[in-house]
Amino acid sequence: MNTSILSARGLTKQYGPTVALAGVDLDILPGESVAIMGASGSGKTTLMHALAGIVTPDTGSIAFSTPTGVVRVDQLDERHRSQLRRESFGFVFQQGLLIPELTAVENVAIALMLGGTPRIAAETSAAAWLAALGLAGMETRRIGELSGGQAQRVAIARAQVTGAPIVFADEPTGALDSRTSADVMGALLHATTGQGRTLVLVTHDETVAARCSRTIRLADGRIVGQPGGVGAPTPPQQVATGQAPVPQQVQPPFPPQQLPYQQQHAGQPFPQQPYAQPAAQPYPQPAAQPYPPQAHPGQATGVVPNGARP
Ligand SMILES: Nc1ncnc2c1ncn2[C@@H]1O[C@H](COP(=O)(O)OP(=O)(O)O)[C@@H](O)[C@H]1O
Ligand SMILES: [Mg+2]
Repeated sequence: MNTSILSARGLTKQYGPTVALAGVDLDILPGESVAIMGASGSGKTTLMHALAGIVTPDTGSIAFSTPTGVVRVDQLDERHRSQLRRESFGFVFQQGLLIPELTAVENVAIALMLGGTPRIAAETSAAAWLAALGLAGMETRRIGELSGGQAQRVAIARAQVTGAPIVFADEPTGALDSRTSADVMGALLHATTGQGRTLVLVTHDETVAARCSRTIRLADGRIVGQPGGVGAPTPPQQVATGQAPVPQQVQPPFPPQQLPYQQQHAGQPFPQQPYAQPAAQPYPQPAAQPYPPQAHPGQATGVVPNGARP
């Protein structure tokens, strides 16, 4: 049985003569944090964008498991892919892509308002997330009035506020110094895997990757260094060998209504435990530790650990 939240098979993508993806198989389990590494041009961003329904692969399949059924991301039309991205996925980019004219709280609230949440409720949730990420008191600052690390935490809050079960982050610490990078990475893990969510992250930084539960490496559009070339979790979380069939049917028609994630999480001030700002730690920080070596949150026990932080 394939228990992946995301399962990709045979992904290829070409831009003119340039092969960006040359046949990628990848399984991602709920609650995992997966780092995608590789040289510039190796296809990292293309892979992430394909998984997230931003670009359509030329061939191959991407199955996204939701509590109400499996969604074939590669087969959705643009309108449904846009809806999927808005409702089920969160995004954090290197530069945050925040709106400079808006305040911190407005930048976060807008993600909920796009889904129809009224402004007051959206801003209440947004403020709770900002506080949870150590930004209490900075709600009304514009983005230009925040440091790079603070702005990235606003972007993280925006990616979480809708309750998205999967967060995609492309070089989220790429523009930060190493200390701020460690701080932002802690906040990102706390907000995602710490809440039982799944994080897919592209990074050039081995220190950042080491804090994820797993690293896959791309070269020339392929996953390298994995037996069989399949980006599957290693035992005991092994769920696929590359032969796992991808469900052919989208059922039910996506999406019939709000996904349960949204029903459960929208508008809830979460997480329960605020993100603990790293208190004046001596620099340099302790060497990065591998992110919890134990079972994935929510998988073995069904319990989502609050405040799980590496
Ligand atoms: N929109 C595009 N148009 C043309 N070529 C592209 C486009 N996006 C990516 N590529 C090319 O595809 C290859 C993989 O790019 P990308 O996925 O961005 O790599 P990475 O993120 O690992 O640097 C590169 O050779 C890049 O130049
Ligand atoms: Mg890239």
